Amino acid sequence: MNPIEEFKKERAEAMAAMANDTELKKKSVDWMLHADKYKYTYNFTWMGRPIIKYPQDIAIMQELVWDVKPDLIIETGIAHGGSIIFSSSMMELLGNGGKVIAVDIDIRQHNREAIEQHPMMKNITMLEGSSVDEKIVQQIADYAKGFKKVMVVLDSNHSHEHVYRELELYTPLVSIGSYILLPDTFVEFFPKGYVTNRPWDVGNNPYTAMEAFLKTTTRFVKDEMITNKLLITEALGGGYLKRIS
Ligand SMILES: C[S@@+](CC[C@H](N)C(=O)[O-])C[C@H]1O[C@@H](n2cnc3c(N)ncnc32)[C@H](O)[C@@H]1O
Repeated sequence: MNPIEEFKKERAEAMAAMANDTELKKKSVDWMLHADKYKYTYNFTWMGRPIIKYPQDIAIMQELVWDVKPDLIIETGIAHGGSIIFSSSMMELLGNGGKVIAVDIDIRQHNREAIEQHPMMKNITMLEGSSVDEKIVQQIADYAKGFKKVMVVLDSNHSHEHVYRELELYTPLVSIGSYILLPDTFVEFFPKGYVTNRPWDVGNNPYTAMEAFLKTTTRFVKDEMITNKLLITEALGGGYLKRIS
């Protein structure tokens, strides 16, 4: 076996063993819960803009972009813009002329200005409105028509009803072999009542929406290799869905 294959084999074996380590999985969720006390996911920026993610999820997004080579990334939930700036910068590195289109129900003026002045804005289109509003979805679907490989990130309202509707509306836009990402499935694995300032909770979150959605389709599967190797991830429980047909 050549050294590259040898390395991959050893890594796959270690990951498979880690996937069965229930103690490490529990420690990881405990760590996430403990770190969340300090709003850990707010600690990072990408090219100067706050990105509300674990660094692990940022690293895996880079792997997915390299593997899939999307020419369009659709994002719901812009906030400070770090995630769309990240996606735009990945397009820049791929050098395929790729674009990002994103929607947020409330793009705050200071965020809008900072994003619009950012050098990575050149690949980005921002829309303001609800991600499940028919006109917004139509605008995004029309924009997506010109692209060959589309990836989607759903990071807006994390209630079951909203994410389920987003899955119905946005999964048809995902290209075969590409992904739709569901950050915040982790809510299902935190204690009930933990989230106090939002309507979502155990039993009502992106994880429950994803599970309900997966019962209706064979076109998408959880890529559990990803969440198994991450351990610390907003997408706990398999929130990286791959379109297979
Ligand atoms: C978790 S933040 C997004 C973080 C961003 N993706 C990042 O990684 O930095 C969630 C955002 O979703 C937006 N949002 C909430 N409900 C929405 C809706 N119905 N449609 C679109 N955006 C929504 C909020 O205004 C907020 O900015």
